[in-house]
Amino acid sequence: MNVKIDGPLYSGKAKDVLMTDDPEIVAVRFRDDITAGDGEKKDTLEMKGYYNSVISAKIFEVLEEAGVPTQYLELPEPGCMLARKLDMIPIEVILRNIAAGSIVRRFPFTEGQEFRPPIIQMDYKSDEHGDPMLNEDIILALGIATRDEISEIRRMTFKINDVLVEFFREKGIILPDFKLEFGRDSSGRIRLGDEVSPDTCRLWDMETGKPLDKDIFRRGEEGVVSAYRRVAEMILDREDTERWNIKI
Ligand SMILES: Nc1ncnc2c1ncn2[C@@H]1O[C@H](COP(=O)(O)OP(=O)(O)OP(=O)(O)O)[C@@H](O)[C@H]1O
Ligand SMILES: [Mg+2]
Repeated sequence: MNVKIDGPLYSGKAKDVLMTDDPEIVAVRFRDDITAGDGEKKDTLEMKGYYNSVISAKIFEVLEEAGVPTQYLELPEPGCMLARKLDMIPIEVILRNIAAGSIVRRFPFTEGQEFRPPIIQMDYKSDEHGDPMLNEDIILALGIATRDEISEIRRMTFKINDVLVEFFREKGIILPDFKLEFGRDSSGRIRLGDEVSPDTCRLWDMETGKPLDKDIFRRGEEGVVSAYRRVAEMILDREDTERWNIKI
C-alpha cells in the first residue's frame, strides 16, 4: 500500500492517529506510553508500542480471516499500522469470560469465577465522565449508536470472543476478558477499530496462571515489556516475524 503519512489527526494516551494522502486511511502509531486508572498512573516503557503493534496486527489478521470486519490494512513497519479511518463510536465494549478487575470490586462476583455465557459490558468512553457503564436506553438517548448498531456490535463481540479464545488457547494463553472499540467505515459498516493487545486484554499464561498484560503495570510490578514480548513470541509464527522483520 503506497500512502504518504501526513500530520496528526489526534493523539490519545497510547497512540497517535495520523492522516495520510488517502482520506479513508489513517496511520496508527503505537507509542511507548502506558497509563492506568484513567491516566492517573503513567510511564513510558521502551518497546511497549512495538510489541503492541505487532500483536494487534496479528490479531486483526486472525479476525479478518474468520470474517470479522476490522480497521486493519497493513503493518508497513512494527510500531505503525495502516488502518481504515473510522467514525469511532465512543463505547468501550468489554467482554468477560472470567471475573477479574473492576467487575469483582463493583459486584458480588468472585475473582476467577467463569461467566457462561460470557458477559458483555458497555462503558461510555469519556475520561471527563469517568467511563460510566451504559445500557441500551442511555446509548440511544445519547445518540451514539442505533439499536441495530448495538446488536451488530454485540454479535461481532461474541464472534471475536469465540475466535480469540480458541486462538489464544492454542498458543497456551487464557483470555479472561478484553476491551474493544468499534467505528463506522465510509460506507457505514461497523468495523473493529483501535487495538487488541496486552494493554486491552487480560492474558494469562496457561502454565503458570500469571498475567502477561497491563495488570503487571497496574500492580506496579516489574517485567511489563518482557511479558508483552512473551505474548508476541507465543502468538507469532516464523512467517510473521520474517515478513515484519521482528526482533524478539
Ligand atoms: N481506525 C480508526 N480511525 C479513527 N480513529 C481511531 C481508529 N482506531 C482508533 N481510533 C481512536 O484513536 C484513539 C487511539 O488513541 P489511544 O488509544 O491512545 O486513545 P485513548 O487514550 O484510548 O483515548 P482518547 O481518545 O480518550 O485519548 C482513540 O480515541 C480511538 O478511539
Ligand atoms: Mg485507547
